[in-house]
Amino acid sequence: MSLSLFDLKDKVAMVTGSTRGLGEVAAIALAKAGANVAVCGRNRTDLQRVSAAIKDLDRNSEGFFLDVTSKESVHQGVKQILKHFGKIDILVNNAGVNHREPVMDYPEEAWDLVINTNLKGYFLVTQAVGPQMLERGYGKVINMSSILGTVAMPNQVAYASSKGGVDQMTKVMALEWAKQGIRVNAIGPTYFETELVAQIRNDPERYNFINERTPAGRWGYPIELEGIVIFLAAPASDFITGQTIYIDGGWTAC
Ligand SMILES: NC(=O)c1ccc[n+]([C@@H]2O[C@H](COP(=O)([O-])OP(=O)(O)OC[C@H]3O[C@@H](n4cnc5c(N)ncnc54)[C@H](OP(=O)(O)O)[C@@H]3O)[C@@H](O)[C@H]2O)c1
Repeated sequence: MSLSLFDLKDKVAMVTGSTRGLGEVAAIALAKAGANVAVCGRNRTDLQRVSAAIKDLDRNSEGFFLDVTSKESVHQGVKQILKHFGKIDILVNNAGVNHREPVMDYPEEAWDLVINTNLKGYFLVTQAVGPQMLERGYGKVINMSSILGTVAMPNQVAYASSKGGVDQMTKVMALEWAKQGIRVNAIGPTYFETELVAQIRNDPERYNFINERTPAGRWGYPIELEGIVIFLAAPASDFITGQTIYIDGGWTAC
């Protein structure tokens, strides 16, 4: 086996929502494997902080303000990234939000925010990045899904719907672009300790429920995302497309 199968030297990656959490881990992982990285999000201090950390790895990196819920912001952001780097080889659709409430109490605004960020946002960004991938006949799109794309939990109606949608969107895009050198896959994480799930992490009962429900007996550590992100971005996964790969300590196996 050659390690060049995992080499991302001279590749350009764009990661949405990489100002913290799993997106930050993904951006740094891709840089560690050799890629130059466009860090995207809305918090300018964190954009600066993450891109500085990537520059410390001797990669080209810049922070770009990009709100995935706004078509105009997406197009502006992608235009600036292409101007700076000249191309985007790897797109990680990661920006995500959640709102937990029972179906009957679920506010319409919360539904719209979750769906517009987690599902429509992925669609808008991929549509903006896709043309130059199609033109060059090369691209890797990685969509951050969740175990909730396939298993359900109470109080997560919009989030689970968005992630189920992401899994289906991944398959449709994979089929449309399979002959054109573009691979589209999704990652389905279980609970990882980030701000998104702070509410659950800080509640001992719910925290332990996750530990007990997981065959491996614990939550995921954000750093454990690195391997799957590099794999799906690298030549090692060139014949894999349309898949959701779970990183869940066995949750979806039972
Ligand atoms: N943590 C978990 O347990 C877990 C499990 C399964 C799946 N996931 C998925 O992993 C992804 C990242 O989650 P996380 O846990 O890392 O969450 P997080 O720590 O809350 O980070 C979310 C990121 O999304 C960005 N974001 C939110 N709304 C945005 C918008 N409208 N435009 C652009 N960026 C936006 C945030 O950046 P700004 O606020 O700076 O814009 C932030 O960088 C999500 O898709 C989530 O569904 C997480």
